This record gives sequence, C-alpha cells and structure tokens, in this order.
Amino acid sequence: MMRKKAGKFFIIAIDGPAGSGKSTTARKVAQRLGFFFLDSGAMYRAVTWLALENKVALNDSSALAVLAEKAVIDFRQQDGKQLIFVNGQDITRQIRLPDVTNAIAPIAANPVVRKILVEKQRVFGKLGNLVAEGRDIGTVVFPNADLKIYLNAPAKVRARRRVTELAEQGVEADFAAIYSALLLRDANDSNREHSPLRRAKGAVELDTGDLTIDEQVDRVVRLAKERME
Ligand code: C5P
Repeated sequence: MMRKKAGKFFIIAIDGPAGSGKSTTARKVAQRLGFFFLDSGAMYRAVTWLALENKVALNDSSALAVLAEKAVIDFRQQDGKQLIFVNGQDITRQIRLPDVTNAIAPIAANPVVRKILVEKQRVFGKLGNLVAEGRDIGTVVFPNADLKIYLNAPAKVRARRRVTELAEQGVEADFAAIYSALLLRDANDSNREHSPLRRAKGAVELDTGDLTIDEQVDRVVRLAKERME
C-alpha cells in the first residue's frame, strides 16, 4: 500500500448529487488504486433501515442517536463485491429498497445522527488509503482530503442513468417518476440546514454528462497519481 507520509493515508473525497456516478466511480477508483471504498450513503441507509426495523420514529432524535451510536457498521468484501453489515447482519440488499430510500431525508437532516456517522467515517480514514463518497465528504468529513472531486451531471442525464440501472436489474421504471424523485432528493440534500450538498473548497468539478464511467475513473485515477508523486 502506498503511503504519503508516515502514519498518514491518502484520502480521495468524492461528492455529488444522486446519479452523478459517484458510487460506481468511487468503487472502481478504489479497485484500481487498491484503496478501501467508503460508501457513506450506505451508512445513512443502514441507520434508516435500523430505525424502520425497530419502529423508531424518524423524528425521535434521542432514540435515533442511540441506534446510530450503537450500530456496528462494517464493510466486507465477497466475490469482488462489497457488502454492508450492521450489528452482524448483512443488509446490503435491504438498504437499497424504496422503503429505506424514501425514509432517509429526516435521518440525513438530523445533526445528531450526522455527527455520530461522521465520527464513524473518520475512523476508516485512520485505517488505510481511502476513496470515500457521499454528500459532505470533502466539506465536512475529510476537509483535508488529498484529492476532492465534485461529480455532477444534468438531472435528466442522471435520471436516465437510474432508469437504465434499474432496467439492468430487471426493474421497469417510469422516467417521469424517477426524474421527480431525483429532483426531490437533490432539493432535500442541497437545502437542508446541516451539511448540505456543496462543492468543497478546492474540489475538482467533473461534469459527467458526456463521460463514460471508464473515462470518469481514468480522470480521477490520473489526478490521484499526480498528487501522490
Ligand atoms: O448515496 P446514496 O444515494 O446511497 O445516499 C443516500 C442518502 O443519504 C442521500 O440521498 C443523502 O440524503 C444521504 N447522505 C448524506 N450524506 C452523505 C451520504 C449520503 O446525507 N455523506
């Protein structure tokens, strides 16, 4: 593993709106560089899933704080895939279900939950070289990241990608419904009071509208390698 300075790891922070290609880009960049891939959205999804499972009201801050604090969230690699476990249970599939996606907003807007999850995310930055993706990675979680990227693309392009992605999983989706859900999520993420989605200071902005995933990955890997020299 490549180290920058003694005891310091190389951190790549990737932020951007839903459908900008963050997850796929971050995962592939991590594979190419041999870095750990930190999917911070999966952690917000995990807490949301826990809240639904435990019938905790989504506005009950103190109960949510206990759930988040106690949650042992870990990522495991299996057959080239990354799985997420919470308190020992594999919830990789469950956290992507619409019930969870639709319930996330109040949890992601909750400052107590955010503080707890940010602390948990920073622990991963002490374990090794890392590619982290989310909405506040370069602004809040790792403001001193070695490379910050802001991925963006027009909303229609992002919605079309989601429809294709779902079709590949055998799920037929209506473009108009996906598009309006995406606009709603953009608005929730950008307008919330705590850690809204913003381009971090010093972030390189990549508009992925005309880029393939491989091109996005190549650009990020190239930028990272330049900064590692
Ligand atoms: O990236 P993903 O779609 O899995 O994220 C799910 C939700 O979690 C986002 O819509 C956002 O509200 C929230 N999130 C966040 N901060 C992060 C990552 C995700 O608020 N760092």
